[in-house]
Amino acid sequence: MAKRWTNDLTAADVTPEALFWNRRKLLAGMAGAGLGSIAGGAVAEEGLATNTWEEVTSYCNFYEFGTGKEDPSYYAGAMTTSPWSVEIDGLVDNPGSYGFEQILEAMTLEERIYRFRCVEAWSMVIPWQGFELADLLALAGVQDGAKYVAFETLLRPDEMPGVRYPVIDWPYREGLRLDEAMNPLTIMATGIFGKPLPNQNGAPLRLVVPWKYGFKSIKSVVKITLTDQEPPTSWNMANAREYGFYSNVNPNVNHPRWSQASERKIGGGLFAKRQPTLMFNGYEAEVASLYEGMDLAKHF
Ligand code: MTE
Repeated sequence: MAKRWTNDLTAADVTPEALFWNRRKLLAGMAGAGLGSIAGGAVAEEGLATNTWEEVTSYCNFYEFGTGKEDPSYYAGAMTTSPWSVEIDGLVDNPGSYGFEQILEAMTLEERIYRFRCVEAWSMVIPWQGFELADLLALAGVQDGAKYVAFETLLRPDEMPGVRYPVIDWPYREGLRLDEAMNPLTIMATGIFGKPLPNQNGAPLRLVVPWKYGFKSIKSVVKITLTDQEPPTSWNMANAREYGFYSNVNPNVNHPRWSQASERKIGGGLFAKRQPTLMFNGYEAEVASLYEGMDLAKHF
């Protein structure tokens, strides 16, 4: 099958693998070692004064296993990921339960190196393995009236200690407009750094939308619904003022509590110079047309 998308990033741009796996430890370690206040000071100098280190780093998470930054790595191992199936329903010709193996057999898997902006001010370059969401939607047969795609994460309280707490109205939910979902950049990832996804990163399959913030990348997906209505999304339900439906990386629209105009590269060192955040996380050429004529300050 012909490649439909070419990458401008190479292996040389990839965030060192050890830093990716250890970033929670790295960030937590800095806070634990008393460097938190130093880091907090550095952050404050750069205009993020109201945020503690904890607040800045806790965005990278899997809240079903707890909101603590180390919780997912302790508890996510208990999640059963096989057998796994994804229910695809709503405005599709072939609704039903699709087994993970069945999906893999039908899809073309490839590796893609994407910029990923997880914690608000930190960026990474990650090699993901996955397939285009558009291909999965084609398998289900999208009907004419469909305008949005809604996603849900597994909700299994026996295996997920974090869902005892109503920090999010469980299950975790996300959504895309249909044209965003069909964009060739949008993938369902099944692996990372050449390995199957670890549970804490969303095994066995999670969404990756490289021009949006990491929180849009819903993990461990069990349900995909095609609808004609904009679906509710977890972070928007939790805090509509801070998290909009679109969640595009946009240096011109600040988060209410911090600037998004610059970012720090993971691996660049704690005191490395911040770099300007790129519009749509560097994917402007590919996706700007999706938002033509929209007021992105309103649809943030
Ligand atoms: N998906 C689910 N189901 N639950 C979550 O808490 N956290 C989101 C997103 N997907 C989250 C989720 C957030 S806030 C981020 S930053 C990314 O996952 C982090 O993904 P990573 O840990 O693989 O980098």
